[in-house]
Amino acid sequence: MKIAVIGTGYVGLVSGTCFAEFGHQVACIDIDTQKIQRLREGLVPIYEPGLQPMVEKNCAAGRLSFSSDFDPFVGEADVIFIAVGTPASRRGDGYADLSYVFDAARAIAPRLRDYTVVVNKSTVPVGTARQVARIIAQENPHAHFDVASNPEFLREGAAIADFMRPDRVVLGVESPQAEERLRAIYRPLYLIETPFVVTTIETAELIKYASNAFLATKISFINEMANLCEEVGADVHAVAKGMGLDGRIGRKFLHPGPGYGGSCFPKDTLALLRIAQEHGVACRIVEAVVEVNAAQKARMVRKIRAALGGTEAGKIIAVLGLAFKPETDDMREAPALTIIPALTEHGAIVRAHDPQAMKEAAKLLPEVQYCSSPYEACEGAHCVVLVTEWNEYRALDLPRIKSLLAEPVFVDLRNVYEPHQMKALGFRYECVGRKG
Ligand code: UGA
Repeated sequence: MKIAVIGTGYVGLVSGTCFAEFGHQVACIDIDTQKIQRLREGLVPIYEPGLQPMVEKNCAAGRLSFSSDFDPFVGEADVIFIAVGTPASRRGDGYADLSYVFDAARAIAPRLRDYTVVVNKSTVPVGTARQVARIIAQENPHAHFDVASNPEFLREGAAIADFMRPDRVVLGVESPQAEERLRAIYRPLYLIETPFVVTTIETAELIKYASNAFLATKISFINEMANLCEEVGADVHAVAKGMGLDGRIGRKFLHPGPGYGGSCFPKDTLALLRIAQEHGVACRIVEAVVEVNAAQKARMVRKIRAALGGTEAGKIIAVLGLAFKPETDDMREAPALTIIPALTEHGAIVRAHDPQAMKEAAKLLPEVQYCSSPYEACEGAHCVVLVTEWNEYRALDLPRIKSLLAEPVFVDLRNVYEPHQMKALGFRYECVGRKG
């Protein structure tokens, strides 16, 4: 199968590389010539465990190539995946900006030769694939093609594993021919008995938003339960376990923290609300999820302030972890981007460390002092705040941290440590939804 993937962002690069790993002939295309040049030199622009060697291996095997030209790849492809970015629109109104998707459709249209399936892999509002079909038909009335929707469910930091062993594959298709081609692409997944959900295009598009909104709901729900636990003296970990063991609820995504971030949940919940609004449908649960998430970040700031004795003015705060989650250098919508400015605005001095995201963070948080280790960040600080649960923060030399701090205050926004152990070590320890 010959595949062209348009867009070498997270989804495009991971999907293209994994399709090559499945044995297909894949060309990844991006209009960013510099990015393509670097990829050709073997430089993967994102930090994603396992991706670099897989790119190298498939390039060396001749199955994977990178190009900033659409020709000849688009004309030769059996299937074209559109995996370009759909950022939140600059108007800040929650709409997704689809201009890259439509640009890709316009670039594809005149190049189509034999029957081709054009698949939307980007997360796009319901109805977008049909608009893509309209654009292609307008630009090239002779084109023989079908559009399809094949949303991607991979997580950053676990992208390769999620792609190679997905819980399900969702295919929104309109013809048996398109279904057959897409099933052929995913044939290696039949062997591991991956369920396939074959449905209409609109349904497939909505499944993606509904899934992300539901996962975000679980997080906002457990965060509110955590806050209630703090007031009534309950332990949110036991609550999550006790709930999650009910198979209908499930244990995953019930970990409390500073609120969800990243490039997906914040953007997709807002986009879903816009879609609902446009169709005159209330989505009050999702509205509440978004509000609870903002409130959770504000609550974390108050928690840190209280741990510092009521004010952050003139205090040095060590922040461990900046990325929106571990195993990524992605800072998009990271809780640190809300929490840190709220503290520095009121006179706090922030010293921070992150294993991968400091370069990205420095562009967004220039006021922060960046440190080469968690220990350097803690030197002379009045409090240490663990914001992202990187593995290297799970095994900190705690006595050393304590000796470096000016005050033994540890605020753990990810509940990495056990309250009684921290107390025994002499820390004043605060976490989320558990007695400190
Ligand atoms: C999310 C979904 O999990 C993927 O299935 C989906 O494909 C992807 O969005 C997307 O739409 O492209 P991702 O944003 O990479 O993936 O990261 P997650 O691991 O889902 O974490 C999202 C946020 O939720 C993080 O800020 C994380 O810290 C937070 N989270 C997650 C919690 O606070 N508690 C939890 O129990 C789980």
